[in-house]
Amino acid sequence: MFRAKLFRTSRQPALMGAAFLAAVVLVAGAAKEAAQDIPRDELGAATVKHQIEVLDKLMPQKDLDQVPPGVDPIAWKALIPEGNAMTPERIALGKKLFFDKRLSADGTVSCATCHDITRGLTDQLPTSEGIRKQFGKRNAPTTFNVVLLHTLFLDGRSPNLDHQARQPILNPVEMGMPDGETALKAIKDDAEYQKMFKEAYGREMNFEDVGRAIAAFERTLVFLDSPFRRFLDGDENAISADAKAGWDLFNGKARCVSCHHMNPSNPLGTDNRFHNVGVSARHQDFEGLASEALKAMKEDASEQKLDELAVGTDMSELGRFMVTHNRSDIGSFRTLQLLNIGITQPYMHDGSMATLWDVMDHYNKGGEANPFLDGGMEPLDLTEKEIDQVVAFLFSMTDDRFKEENQRQFDEQKARAQKERPFRDNEMAARRTLGFEDRVKAESSIEKQEGAK
Ligand code: HEC
Ligand code: HEC
Repeated sequence: MFRAKLFRTSRQPALMGAAFLAAVVLVAGAAKEAAQDIPRDELGAATVKHQIEVLDKLMPQKDLDQVPPGVDPIAWKALIPEGNAMTPERIALGKKLFFDKRLSADGTVSCATCHDITRGLTDQLPTSEGIRKQFGKRNAPTTFNVVLLHTLFLDGRSPNLDHQARQPILNPVEMGMPDGETALKAIKDDAEYQKMFKEAYGREMNFEDVGRAIAAFERTLVFLDSPFRRFLDGDENAISADAKAGWDLFNGKARCVSCHHMNPSNPLGTDNRFHNVGVSARHQDFEGLASEALKAMKEDASEQKLDELAVGTDMSELGRFMVTHNRSDIGSFRTLQLLNIGITQPYMHDGSMATLWDVMDHYNKGGEANPFLDGGMEPLDLTEKEIDQVVAFLFSMTDDRFKEENQRQFDEQKARAQKERPFRDNEMAARRTLGFEDRVKAESSIEKQEGAK
């Protein structure tokens, strides 16, 4: 717990930046200095100009309104909501909005600040920094492939991208606009926008269409082309022997596939359901938080309030419970997608794990004990070699267009894992200490005894 806290305090961008540079120089050597040359703005994201150049190179700007390669055309049709058919005009408008800092209260933050194309469409921070140096409580997931998810946000509180895209603009710790009208005012006098909105939706500018256009742009961000994908398609040599062994473990001894469904028709590696895998269980008084949350939501049941509580307060840890109010959902989060996982560190809803070795150590000991832990979580007793193999497999799922960054991350994470493994607990992994149920029972009987004193 102590180490996790240490890690969290180091999230100031300047420190992170310095650590990042030091790590690159130390670990990757002079040959891979390119990552340092990226021009960055004051919050640490690559500049808008640079990001757009990178994006245009990765995704040639034609046919973006067509079914993306690798997606089934019939499935695609079902993913596009009524009233927001994909058109080049809508995509172009959404792209402009995605990069526009004027949509934030102090003009410093855009969607691309936290979803930076040079960082796997995340900010590579434990938790995100929004306007006025405020940090939220959640790690920014990637916006790659979000069109294929069934619900959005880590607790699934948003049903679709058109709806989701409006929330960060209004969230006080993210972009901080008080309401949609104020957000609109910031761009309303721009003649180019007036023209683009007319062409895209054929009506006056409005806040709903801001969300729709951003969503149309996000639906183009499909990145499915990985060595692992080619392996699944029959190319035996697309991934290493270690990665192949890791894939077998993923489906067998390591039990990952029970939540991270992975097959040609479901390529993201998520069951789109919610589970408590015990990520931050040790830090939280779940029961106390839950009653606090119910009280707060009774006073204000609006979706804006829910967004505010989920992102900006300790109630973030309650996960899916904030949406359903079911006790069984306490501490549950949506199974995260695994594609491009090599380039979106740190990991988990609170960004508490710096490397994929940490993630494996967490699962190997069966997660963190808590009364709401998913029944599928058990100690795995994986050997060091097996852990390395699953990690090799995880790194084989990054889109080919990010091959270099993926390799750089692999080297950097490996070096870090050789120095520290804060989540490792071999005793627990091999069940040489008390199993979970026993431990939870033991802990609660200790609490009772203490309470009786
Ligand atoms: C200050 C950083 C920040 C900004 C700015 C920001 N996001 Fe995010 N984004 C996050 C975080 C943190 C989450 C996770 C929140 C949660 O799950 O409750 C998230 C979640 C998402 C998701 C859901 C992904 C998933 O796997 O469910 C999408 C899509 C998304 N953001 C798109 C956007 C768009 C579009 C904008 C601009 C309108 C935007 N974000 C602005 C940090 C940010
Ligand atoms: C019981 C269901 C379940 C099992 C089993 C499971 N996962 Fe997960 N996985 C999740 C959930 C839920 C999350 C999000 C948890 C959170 O953020 O608190 C997650 C998160 C992750 C992440 C972090 C993703 C990110 O972007 O931060 C990785 C990597 C991962 N799992 C890999 C694995 C591997 C490898 C295995 C097998 C050793 C595994 N998972 C087993 C449900 C599961």
